[in-house]
Amino acid sequence: MVLCVEPPPPVKLPESKDAELTDDDNHDSSKIEKRTRMHHIERHRSCVVTLSDIELNDLPSKSPGGAGTQCSPREETPTDTNASHRHAITDVAWEALKKSMVYFRGQPIGTVAAIDKSQGAALNYDQVFMRDFIPSALAFLMKGEHLIVKNFLVETACLQSREKMVDLFKLGQGVMPASFKVHHCNPTQKTESLLADFGETAIGRVAPVDSGLWWIILLRAYTKCTGDNSLAESPNCQRAMRLILRLCLSEGCDTSPALLCADGCSMIDRRMGIYGYPIEIQALFFMALRCSLSLLKQDSDDDFVNHITKRIQALSYHLHSYYWLDFQRLNDIYRYKTEEYSQTALNKFNVIPESIPDWIFDFMPSRGGYFIGNVSPARMDFRWFCLGNFIAILSSLATGEQAEAILDLVEERWEELIGEMPLKICYPAMENQEWQIVTGCDPKNTRWSYHNGGSWPVLLWLLVAVSVKLGRRHLARRAVELMERRLVKDDFPEYYDGKAGRYIGKQARKFQTWSIAGYLVAKMLLDDPSHLRIIALEDDGHSRSGMPFLKRSNSCP
Ligand code: GLC
Repeated sequence: MVLCVEPPPPVKLPESKDAELTDDDNHDSSKIEKRTRMHHIERHRSCVVTLSDIELNDLPSKSPGGAGTQCSPREETPTDTNASHRHAITDVAWEALKKSMVYFRGQPIGTVAAIDKSQGAALNYDQVFMRDFIPSALAFLMKGEHLIVKNFLVETACLQSREKMVDLFKLGQGVMPASFKVHHCNPTQKTESLLADFGETAIGRVAPVDSGLWWIILLRAYTKCTGDNSLAESPNCQRAMRLILRLCLSEGCDTSPALLCADGCSMIDRRMGIYGYPIEIQALFFMALRCSLSLLKQDSDDDFVNHITKRIQALSYHLHSYYWLDFQRLNDIYRYKTEEYSQTALNKFNVIPESIPDWIFDFMPSRGGYFIGNVSPARMDFRWFCLGNFIAILSSLATGEQAEAILDLVEERWEELIGEMPLKICYPAMENQEWQIVTGCDPKNTRWSYHNGGSWPVLLWLLVAVSVKLGRRHLARRAVELMERRLVKDDFPEYYDGKAGRYIGKQARKFQTWSIAGYLVAKMLLDDPSHLRIIALEDDGHSRSGMPFLKRSNSCP
């Protein structure tokens, strides 16, 4: 028995014609017109396509292999000359993903970050990273291979309960590791143990705030995919979830419901000016909180559940009020008065309009919007961060209109955000003195490289997931096509460099597992949109101005 956010009754929407267009249709001007018209119509109806609609209306006919057949040839016609090329890519990708699997005491337990024989030191790329395993886990779940995901969840829950020290300081119980590896203690007796890194050995000693949040999201994905509640309801998983949540929900001196973080606490694990309340963590936090409501056992104490519910509401209110940016709001901020005191202040964080960077005025289209990177006293980080915005759509933190606006922005600013190789981790890059001050002269994060405006293939699965969720699959197809031109030829790099993402990253690993898995998940989502239910949450109306109606029920959202 689980707790659940009750979804609104599904709105029956007209079938999206958009989804019927084939790749070839993109070159036909009458169809482009038709598509634009359809898009226009779509934007005037209720914006969020419910997951049940996707399941009912958007489904390809299942191929006989069911979950085990990853890439059905549904969208290919005999005239599609690229079909065999695409199949070859998926075959190579599956083979590479299988090679990355890590075994512990004979059982699959995760995937290494990269297997790049051409590079000297493996550093920690030979470890299983929690965040890197997410796309691998989704690929395995969608393929019907559940065991590796189950083992991963079970073993990482055990790692969490170990005592962890950084120098003389003991970390909170709920912290999940950034990564772990199998240690062969005694080769003759073949004994193995797991060695975890909670940030105490990582470059820069960065603590992974995202690991625990991803763990909860993955537990819900596993439960949703397999229909098996027993893992989530096991004492170890319930305990692990509570420890993570307690850590994140603990009271402090803060005035904000957002999670306060140090720099380098997530996928961007180097100094990049994301300290404070980065959108990536806030969106993951929101999603993890919502997932936990469906996973906590029915007999969980009411206070704890109420606490979570209230935090969801407060966080949602905070992010909607202060992080959302579109043309209108930018104009409001531009005209802000400063030094306002009391409850009636409009400029609550006393942001000085002169601090608005020049680039945003050109970048902001009249159609589109997004959640900005960070907000704190006198500081708005206007940069676009891909992961946070796409998780906001998947978790339904973004309202239907906002979700559409985020994809409008991606469409309007395609060159900047997608370029030649999808997708920019953030935009724009920092240069010159700003780069010196903010990154500490980091030679790995020079402009348009790595975390500083580099392009990361792994993010493709998120773009595809949100495009499928919003019935705008032509965006997903465009990005997948770009990816397919280079990904295998370039040996699945970790990231690309340059303003348009044309160059394989200076220090990018090859055969980076999440680049491989991200592509496979993207393909499987496009081929069978019903997979989306594993990773997307229905809109339960929490973000409306009235307060949400969250209550217990018996199924996963
Ligand atoms: C880099 C990335 C980080 C990733 C790790 C392993 O440190 O910044 O996000 O988890 O490599 O791939």
